Amino acid sequence: MKQFISVHDVPDINALVQKALACKAAPYKNKTLGINKRIGCLFLNPSMRTRLSTQIAAQNLGMEAIVFNVGQEGWALEFEEEAIMSGNTVEHVKDAAPIMGKYFDILAIRTFPSLKNKDDDYSELYMKQFIKYAGIPVVSLESATLHPLQSLTDLITITESLQNAPSQNVGKRPKVVLTWAPHVKPLPQCVANSFSQWMNAWGEADFVITHPEDYELSQEFTNGATITHNQDEALKDADFVYVKNWSTYNDYGKIYCNDPGWMLTNKKLAYTNNAKVMHCLPVRRNVELSDEVLDGPNSIITQEAGNRVWAAQAVLSEILGNIS
Ligand code: CP
Repeated sequence: MKQFISVHDVPDINALVQKALACKAAPYKNKTLGINKRIGCLFLNPSMRTRLSTQIAAQNLGMEAIVFNVGQEGWALEFEEEAIMSGNTVEHVKDAAPIMGKYFDILAIRTFPSLKNKDDDYSELYMKQFIKYAGIPVVSLESATLHPLQSLTDLITITESLQNAPSQNVGKRPKVVLTWAPHVKPLPQCVANSFSQWMNAWGEADFVITHPEDYELSQEFTNGATITHNQDEALKDADFVYVKNWSTYNDYGKIYCNDPGWMLTNKKLAYTNNAKVMHCLPVRRNVELSDEVLDGPNSIITQEAGNRVWAAQAVLSEILGNIS
């Protein structure tokens, strides 16, 4: 693997999931793979899980991780080609990224969308410019439209749950439901886009997306899924329910319906096949998910967040295997 920006960088999804589970079983088996190698983790936006799990994963491989909160502590970066930099930006990415390419062996970047201009956000200019100018492998720690490390983690967690209960799952395709949930502010579509992209590429589940009208995601990511506005119907017989808010894609970055009836509760969970409940975190309690679900026996959210380490470790291992 030369970079990790989306599922398209992964030649064999199941092999990567199994590699991550092998890392979980034996975290220090490859503790010298990354010796004398350094990863730069650039955060243009906040993070807890991604930042910590990537650092731990690097450390497990003997690799040094340097975190740079460039959004708070760095020079304001310019990304547009041929920009006349007479405004607030101080340094062009075409000057900064090659230097990072000298300092690091792998560059990992988190950058959020503005949610103001769909074409700008979906062009993934920031990520593309780092890839173009850094000259070293780039890993997405979440971009304007996708969150591949989260999605890999989600698939690891689903696979692990299926493997832990083989007698219930013999010969059965799991039903996985991605359900929109209310939120107090407009959020990116990244997690929902990325989860949809990975589920469709994986192809080993009956994948259903449910959301209120006007919350359609880009078909680029959802093609292959069953989509319904009827949440109760979607939840019927589900084995996994992934709860996530996103803002509107078509009339970009807005909140239309914010019906609290879309919050996942135990009453709704009763429609499912005793489904495991997932969320990428952070979560707004009693807005997106009720306390009773989050603290109940069906939640695998902490296990899911824990698996972030093994997703990152599997990806870094693959990339380290490709650099001398
Ligand atoms: N799920 C996730 O990416 O969490 P952080 O924003 O805390 O990294």
